[in-house]
Amino acid sequence: MAENNPFPGENNTGHVWDDNLRELNNPPPRWWMIAFWASIIWWIVYGLLYPMWPMPYQPAEGKGYTQGFLGWSQMKEYEESLAQLEAVRAQYEERIRNLTPAEILQDPGLKQYTLASAKVLFGDNCSACHGSGGQGNPGFPVLADDDWLYGGTLAKIQESITNGRKGVMPAHKSTLSPEEIDRLARFVTNLSQGKATEAGWALFRAKGCIACHGPKADGVLSRLPNGDIITVGAANLTDGIWRFEPGGYESAKYTITYGVNQPGVEGTRNAVMPAFGKTGKLDEQSIKKLVVYVHELGGGQ
Ligand code: HEC
Ligand code: HEC
Repeated sequence: MAENNPFPGENNTGHVWDDNLRELNNPPPRWWMIAFWASIIWWIVYGLLYPMWPMPYQPAEGKGYTQGFLGWSQMKEYEESLAQLEAVRAQYEERIRNLTPAEILQDPGLKQYTLASAKVLFGDNCSACHGSGGQGNPGFPVLADDDWLYGGTLAKIQESITNGRKGVMPAHKSTLSPEEIDRLARFVTNLSQGKATEAGWALFRAKGCIACHGPKADGVLSRLPNGDIITVGAANLTDGIWRFEPGGYESAKYTITYGVNQPGVEGTRNAVMPAFGKTGKLDEQSIKKLVVYVHELGGGQ
């Protein structure tokens, strides 16, 4: 080939097309070669330091790849950051353990942590009945207002969650006449709209309704100086908030007729709040967090 080269002495490969089109044998530019070798060196160094190459067999540690001299792995990195997070949590958890709900509320940082942590607990344990934001569901009371059956102080909320609640109201279908039931149902409906009559009050008192619903029919038997209320969990009949759906005349009539939580009475209203503490469903720490959470849902009282 060399002897036929029409351009002897030129640094070409001897490949010539169309008389003068030829392939020159020039080296690539220096910068390109530097980058080329640098990338190979980088690849080798990286491969030695970090996990890289799949292995056809499992070495002793049971990992099917070269592990690198740095010993780094994504899993380890994850575990380390988890451990850091746990350490931060542990400080908060320790303080919660040693403080009362009232003290937790005094500390803004701790309160924020407690609320965030309790939100998850509430979602897992409570929202099925009380709604995800405590806004209630048909048949289950609202927790996100300041209308409480059993009281909204920290102590009362703690009692509700720990021991559960089960309000009882007798069925009146055999102790009152249909006419009396009708008049009482009308009375309560009017009362919820602020239009109660004196005759209605008289019947309400005479039939013993105030024994549980209180002299003002607001569910409160008496108020203590510390803000606590004495109650048996009877509903407040003076506001427009109905405990049982759909509320109003028919609904009130039904409740008066069949009562609440009456064993052996067919059609009685069910209203049972499970005991989360006594049954061991939730530990003390979780209940403490939930007490703070529910208290704040209700706007604090
Ligand atoms: C199975 C349904 C159900 C679940 C789950 C449930 N509750 Fe209740 N809860 C009720 C019912 C029903 C009542 C009302 C009881 C009554 O009327 O006597 C109630 C009442 C309450 C009260 C008292 C409200 C008041 O007005 O005084 C609080 C506080 C409360 N629940 C908090 C919780 C928390 C916190 C959880 C989760 C740990 C929870 N509940 C889970 C059904 C439930
Ligand atoms: C032994 C106590 C008790 C007596 C007596 C009683 N109640 Fe009740 N009442 C309750 C309780 C407890 C509830 C349900 C609260 C709950 O579980 O949420 C209730 C609920 C109601 C409701 C439903 C309110 C709503 O918001 O849906 C009406 C209406 C009512 N009572 C009317 C009466 C009338 C009228 C009388 C008198 C004839 C009476 N109650 C006597 C304890 C009582």
